[in-house]
Amino acid sequence: MRVRKAVLPVAGFGTRFLPATKSSSKEMLPLVDKPLIHYAVKDAVDAGIEQIVFVTGRGKRAIEDYFDISFELEYHLKFHGKDEIIEEMRQISDMADFVYLRQKEPKGLGHAVLRAKDVVGDEPFAVILADDVIENSSSGTKQLIDVFDRYHCSVIGLEGVPKEDVSKYGIVSGKEIEDGLYKLDNFVEKPKPEQAPSNTAIIGRYIFTHRIFEELEKTQVGAKGEIQLTDAILSLSKKEVIYGKTLEGKRFDCGSKFGFLEATVEFALNDKEIGQEFKEYLKGVMGC
Ligand code: UTP
Repeated sequence: MRVRKAVLPVAGFGTRFLPATKSSSKEMLPLVDKPLIHYAVKDAVDAGIEQIVFVTGRGKRAIEDYFDISFELEYHLKFHGKDEIIEEMRQISDMADFVYLRQKEPKGLGHAVLRAKDVVGDEPFAVILADDVIENSSSGTKQLIDVFDRYHCSVIGLEGVPKEDVSKYGIVSGKEIEDGLYKLDNFVEKPKPEQAPSNTAIIGRYIFTHRIFEELEKTQVGAKGEIQLTDAILSLSKKEVIYGKTLEGKRFDCGSKFGFLEATVEFALNDKEIGQEFKEYLKGVMGC
């Protein structure tokens, strides 16, 4: 069965960006001129995904408005003769079919994904976290779907991280069966460095068979008092093979201030309109 649907959980509080996220959504923070959520949806659409299922919460209306048509804006742009911008804005709302679900309380990523059970049904599906922006010619989700199409099993996006950072991630271990492709056998959410089974981290791209929902329904509250997706993946791995794929491309952890700033600088340097000017500016700031 083809992967047609992607679940994008966006109901978290984004506490690392407070106070900016007190009244607006972390996923709407822009990298140059597009919000993080735009890059996540593009990653899905470039992989052939047709339906995007957002799991939203309080204060996330801006995401719905972003992917909707804005008649007032279009009227204003038309009045000022900016037809080409109208077309660009329309393309955003035409990117996919959008479905919105609510997670009433942010009880964890696993809990958020479980909200999508009825909309996804018995199809394989992608999960994409907008925090992880991957700069590459091939979408991260597409790289995982290519593995799914070979094995018809769940596939998790992976990246090697420094040992001292393992406690920020879900960490896996397994057997490498070909370059960058693993059969996984252990999954631990945010372990202490001395307890981590490896330094290979789960990053925010996944393909799941629908059987993950049965495991999520049984998953108890775990690390941080939340229902952890990683715990459900561990249970699923006892019943079916789960693959891991090291993703190609540079990943930015835009859920952290530092990662967000790294991405902002690199996207700005690569921007056709302002890249050269920004480079000169940075050189001046750095005194080189
Ligand atoms: P994070 O662990 O980054 O949490 O969630 P967060 O609330 O967004 O940010 P911090 O850690 O407080 O700064 C990873 C992804 O899972 C979603 C978030 O919106 C984010 O996309 N999420 C998390 C939910 O949708 N619901 C939850 O209950 C928790």
